[in-house]
This record gives sequence, C-alpha cells and structure tokens, in this order.
Amino acid sequence: MTEATTTARHSLWSEAIPHGRFPALTGETAVDVAVVGGGITGVTTALLLKRAGLRVALVEADRVGSGVSGNNTAKVTALQSTVYSTIEHKHDAETAAAYADGNTAAVERVASLVSELGIDCDLRRMPAYTFAFDEAGRAAIEQEAQAAARAGLPVTRDRGELMGVPFAVADAVRLDDQLAIHPVKYVRGLAEVVDGDGSRVYEAGRVLRIEDGKPTRVHTDRGTVVAERVVVATHYPILDRGLYFARLEPVRSYCVAVRLASGTPPTGLSISAGSSPTWSLASAGDLLIVSGQGHATGSAPGEPYEELTKFAAEHWDIAEVTHRWSAQDPTSYDNLPMIGPYTPGSTTLYGATGFMKWGLSNGTMAAEVLTDLIVGRDNPLAARFSPHRLTLGSTPKLAKLNAKVAADLVGDRLKSAEVDSVADVPVGEARVVRDGSGKAGVYRDEAGGVHGVSLRCTHLGCLVRFNPAERSWDCPCHGSRFDVDGAVLEGPATKPLPRRDPS
Ligand SMILES: Cc1cc2nc3c(=O)[nH]c(=O)nc-3n(C[C@H](O)[C@H](O)[C@H](O)COP(=O)(O)OP(=O)(O)OC[C@H]3O[C@@H](n4cnc5c(N)ncnc54)[C@H](O)[C@@H]3O)c2cc1C
Ligand code: FES
Repeated sequence: MTEATTTARHSLWSEAIPHGRFPALTGETAVDVAVVGGGITGVTTALLLKRAGLRVALVEADRVGSGVSGNNTAKVTALQSTVYSTIEHKHDAETAAAYADGNTAAVERVASLVSELGIDCDLRRMPAYTFAFDEAGRAAIEQEAQAAARAGLPVTRDRGELMGVPFAVADAVRLDDQLAIHPVKYVRGLAEVVDGDGSRVYEAGRVLRIEDGKPTRVHTDRGTVVAERVVVATHYPILDRGLYFARLEPVRSYCVAVRLASGTPPTGLSISAGSSPTWSLASAGDLLIVSGQGHATGSAPGEPYEELTKFAAEHWDIAEVTHRWSAQDPTSYDNLPMIGPYTPGSTTLYGATGFMKWGLSNGTMAAEVLTDLIVGRDNPLAARFSPHRLTLGSTPKLAKLNAKVAADLVGDRLKSAEVDSVADVPVGEARVVRDGSGKAGVYRDEAGGVHGVSLRCTHLGCLVRFNPAERSWDCPCHGSRFDVDGAVLEGPATKPLPRRDPS
C-alpha cells in the first residue's frame, strides 16, 4: 500500500468546489430573507423560499459546500443507524414515525430536485443497512428493525446480501432505494439555481453580527444584508441566544477514501451497530469510504486515520488511501433535530441544527419546515422538532453537557500538555507554554517555525485543546475550531484566537 504522503488531507468531494464562483457581499443589499450558511440546509432553504416567491440573499463565510455538507459519507437515507429505536426509547413511536416521514420525504426531495434541475451529482439508488458483525449485536438490529417498521419504513431483514462487503454479517436491517450523491456537486447545483432573478449567493464573507428587528440587519466583515427575516443555517448556531449552546454536543468523526488493488467497494450504504467502535461504509466511483472514530470535539482523538486504514486493510485488498478528512456534527440533548424559530415565538429569526450526522436528509427536511414557517403554511413536523419543545427525561443529559462546559472553562485538564518554554515544543506537535500574561498554545511546524495563540476560545471563553490528527485547536465546549495561527475553521466562534509570542 502506498504510504500516507500521497494522501490528500481533504474530502474527495471538496475538490469540486471552485474559487470565486460567487462574489463577496459588499455594501448593503435588501431582500426578503437572508440565509446565513451555504451548506445543504441553507442552500435548500434558500431555493425553496425563492420558489415560494421571496427574494433571498445567501451569505457563506467560505465557499458553498465547504462545511460539513462537503465533508461526510454522502448517504441520503431514512435508515440511520439505530435512530428509530433511540427515538422510541427517548420519546415515543409517534415521534419516531414523524422523523421517518420527514426523512423519507427529504430523500425523495433530493432525488426530485436532482432530476428537475438536471444536477449532475453522481446520484445512485442503493440499499441502506444497519448491520451487526456478530451474535452479540443482533439485539440492536432486532430492536431497530421493529422500531423502523413501526415508524412506517418498509424495512427488511437479511445478512447484508446487497451490502457488497467481504466480511460476514450476523444480522442486518435494510431499506431499499436510498441515495448516494456527490454532496458538493448537489449543494452547488442548488446554489446555481438560487442565484439570479433578484436572489443572490455570496461567498467569502463571515457573518459577525445579526441585529434582530424589523427589518433585521446581517453584518458580514464586508457588507450588510437588510431583510425581513433571517435563517441561521450555520450548522452550529452562531448566535448566543435560544440556549442552543447548553443543548448541543458536537461530535467529530474521521473518514478515509481508499483505492482497492482488487475487489470492489461496497454496493450499499452501511453502518454497524450493537458493538463498539462504529464503522460506516460507502463508496464513490471505484473508491471505498470508511468512516468512524467519533469523539466529543476537543477530546483526544487517538490515531483515527490509522484505525480506519487498518480496518479497511483487514477486509479489503488496498492499493492506496487517496483522501482523509474529518468533520463534526452536533447531537442534541434529546436526539431530535432542532428546527424553527431561533428564540421562542420569534417571527424574524429562524435556525436549524442538531442533525446527529444525518443532516443530508435532516437538513433537507429542515428546509421544508423553515420554508413553511416563513411563508405561513402549516407543517406537521414544525411543533415536534421546534428548538423550544419541552422534552421530558432529558435533564440528566443536559446536566452532563453543562457540567462539561463548566469544567472546560477551567484549565486543569490542560496541565498534562504544559512545558516550561517554547524550546520544549517538539517538531510537528503542540504544547501549552506559560507566557507573561497567562498561557499560550504553541505549535512547532515541520520547518521549525513556531505558531503561538491564546488558548481562550473567542466564543464564550472555554480553553481550546490541540487535535494532532487535524493540527487544529478545538474547543470542547461548543466545537469551535481554529488553525495553528488562530484563524476560525469552524464556528460558533466568529473571531480568530489572538496571536501570542511566548518566546
Ligand atoms: C464524518 C461525518 C459523516 C457524515 N455523513 C453523513 C451522511 O452520510 N449522510 C448524512 O445525511 N449526513 C452525514 N453527516 C452529517 C451532515 O453532513 C451534516 O449534518 C450536514 O451536512 C449539515 O449541513 P448544514 O448545512 O447544516 O451545515 P454545513 O454544511 O456545515 O453548512 C453550514 C455553513 O455555514 C457556514 N458558516 C458558519 N458560520 C458562518 C458565519 N458566521 N457566517 C457565514 N457562514 C457561516 C459554514 O462555512 C458552512 O458552509 C456526516 C457528518 C460527519 C461529521
Ligand atoms: S465554542 Fe463556545 S466557548 Fe468555545
């Protein structure tokens, strides 16, 4: 197998993102709705609002499709690991059925948009599977098959006959006719249709501030959108209102794309259940995709890429790892997405988040719900997935999340990474170094260059940790990420970490 020097450190989908296709926002522009964030949620919402006759401005900090929507395993499916047994357990069968309805409609909405708009995004129909490796995992499959059937999905049971994997499967639940797509080509295809006829798509402009009011004003680092309404589709919500920060936990996972020396990649979209760790398998053309190794953002990831590659090599004849990438998605405190008014009763600010790594369908479902709310149509899912729903039985999880944030505001856990001086920071690694005004995070690059930043996250002040797998400073509280020079890689933070020179 070729060694990792030839492996691209970005997702294979992101190679389809051009530079400079859409302009940056400058000056002031007025529309009906401003949509912040150019992932599947924002772009689909913008498209549906435009189709409903509204003028929309979509504002993306980087490039459309560069967020999690361009860094996933590209499965668009209503069968999602053990989601139905989990929702039944935490809520009830009716809620699981509503989730199944919304996600099934979303899968078909993606397929119909692809065909109506002629988007060239490599769409393939495939069966989706949740499978168990061994007898011990069979109970999870049994429960999921029953819960998914009760939720109305036409699932079947087999031993992974259509998964196309070279290892034995003890049990599996299957849902036919789900989708594999090229997610970047899909969201950029939608963005092309959003742009024009009074609606605009803007790239390379980070929203720093939103003034709520009539009208609302959305300020980027270069210009302002004035709008009657604003949809915050930034993945993790950027506004410090609505108590989202206390109810979401970002979980980071890793992916590799592998070229095979012989054999074929999977012919289904599959994910393991009932044993740990979880392995998610898919394909793109002749490449195998393996994903997993999830952990709470800001905690130590171990050696995720090595583990994924080892799993692939155990089961397939590998020629080379062509790409490696990682991303994170927030899980909500009660395992349901949060879609609707940003604050209780708001008629100007809306948001959608908490997709638990199934946002290609959930983000599409969110777009339907948000559009209906904004244009004043009834939507049967709106109350159930409202960010302000009252959920019984979620208190222990909430308490755990908030205790974690309290601990991460204090520096004790950083002590193990502390050294006395910059000279003690090894090449290719990062350490915490005491400087005059406190502590700095210092990374030494392969050429010996030193990069020092403040460790206080610019969002709400928790202490960031170094993620060696991605060479980034990650915040354990709400998942903001920064590069070694402090630039924002992922929100909710909008401002960089201040530079420090502790030498
Ligand atoms: C490893 C992994 C694998 C996954 N695989 C799947 C899968 O197979 N199937 C599936 O359904 N889901 C999957 N998901 C989840 C799915 O990719 C996400 O839930 C979904 O893409 C979220 O879409 P989004 O539009 O909400 O967020 P994003 O795609 O992240 O879009 C948000 C956008 O907002 C922009 N933004 C952020 N802050 C600002 C700001 N201040 N101003 C302006 N713009 C801003 C960002 O740059 C970004 O482009 C996976 C997730 C992970 C982590
Ligand atoms: S992301 Fe909220 S404090 Fe860091």
